[in-house]
Amino acid sequence: MSSTPTLIKGGRIITAVDDYVADILVEGERIVSIGLNLDGGPDARVIDAAGLLVFPGGVDCHTHMENTFGASVTCDNFASGTRSAAFGGTTTIIDFALQTAGTSPLDAISRAQSKAASAASIDYGFHVIVTQVDERVLGDMQYAIRHEGVSSFKMFMAYPGTVMSDDAAIFQAMRMVGQHGGMIALHAENGTVIDLLIREALAQGHTAPRYHALTRPAIMEGEATHRGIKLAELAEAPVYFVHLSAKEALKHVIEARDLGIPVFAETCPHYLFFDESAYADDSFELARYVMSPPLRSKEAQNALWTALKTDDLQLISTDHCPYCMKEGHRGNVNQKPLGRDDFSKIPNGVPGVETRMTVVYDGGVRGGRISLNRFVELMSTAPAKLFGLFPKKGTLAIGSDADIVLFDPNESHMISADTQHGDCDFTLFEGRAVTGRVKKVLLRGELLIDNGDWVGRTGQGQFVARGELGGHW
Ligand code: URP
Ligand code: ZN
Ligand code: ZN
Repeated sequence: MSSTPTLIKGGRIITAVDDYVADILVEGERIVSIGLNLDGGPDARVIDAAGLLVFPGGVDCHTHMENTFGASVTCDNFASGTRSAAFGGTTTIIDFALQTAGTSPLDAISRAQSKAASAASIDYGFHVIVTQVDERVLGDMQYAIRHEGVSSFKMFMAYPGTVMSDDAAIFQAMRMVGQHGGMIALHAENGTVIDLLIREALAQGHTAPRYHALTRPAIMEGEATHRGIKLAELAEAPVYFVHLSAKEALKHVIEARDLGIPVFAETCPHYLFFDESAYADDSFELARYVMSPPLRSKEAQNALWTALKTDDLQLISTDHCPYCMKEGHRGNVNQKPLGRDDFSKIPNGVPGVETRMTVVYDGGVRGGRISLNRFVELMSTAPAKLFGLFPKKGTLAIGSDADIVLFDPNESHMISADTQHGDCDFTLFEGRAVTGRVKKVLLRGELLIDNGDWVGRTGQGQFVARGELGGHW
């Protein structure tokens, strides 16, 4: 913890509701004062923020660091992935702890804790991926909410035979968490129909990456989303949809929210900036666009932007789930080339944790699609509120953690994997010119990024225990 006070002078402070020029005084790990002409005393470290925007640190509640899916492990671990996140202005992530066959969600949490503890350089929490439900597991989930600071659980309606849960298991888990202040996050795609379409495509000799998209139709995301909402309604529990991409799914979220049902959803930058026209030919290069759900139509993309504006979608998370395009890059094996002859073996997922704020600022705020306040709400405040981190995280206020981003709204640069800080060998945004750049990042009062240089420490991130959810919905 830094004992020297830090005085951030004359920046334009943006929260989900505020926009004004003032100073911020940080002592220890917290913001202690916000006002005009503040004096931090003779020892204060003074940071001149004139001309810069001052945001609360980003909260990305969907990342996969060193996550194992089948034969593949994501190529960013907690050290590389959280450093990369910090360069992009994110100071808190919520990652995943996988319940493996026959084990307890509590074991999953302790395994994830031991990976992150000495490696993370930003703060972190976990959702547990629940793959098997029985009375003991339900009891352990309840324990996790009460005593482990883990109050959200992801369940899959896709990937039969590996992580998929059936409707009864999802309903049981929803009913329990609904009674105890937790929430189920759903991966909503109809897994068994998709599995059939995959087998049929392969039997016809269609092995190229673009068949990944062709076998995961939008209507099957819509169907699963509708089913998930009905299960949640019956269970009297809130539900959160991860990586929503399809208009057919969005429609059901909007309808439910209009009826006052507690349904929430995120989308991801890749769905906002890319569309299905990327799947143009049979080349293996298109494996970089293999994520689930896949990219959708331009019309769907426009609907997602509108929904972000109208709060029909509440969050933009990255689903940072990076696998390299080249086998062996920085020692990572079983990456995208695993599916060179069979698209169904390409590990699903794309990187994004470092680019989230910049591309959404550039395309969203500068592009006239969302306001500056809504940008902060989407990047930081809404995820903090929804997942039990607010007001410690997600805003700039007296008493909040001093997780602060200084952002130059006018500096232009080109995005490239070569200048990023994670371990993935590509970014979907390669070569994109953007305006707006993260200049400095503080985590609980300590500088992590100083004018583009890394000055943080591996391991300085802390686990953030989350309480029962629902306090800020
Ligand atoms: O393609 C994706 N999204 N991979 C990550 C795992 C998941 O479903 O979130
Ligand atoms: Zn998912
Ligand atoms: Zn994911």
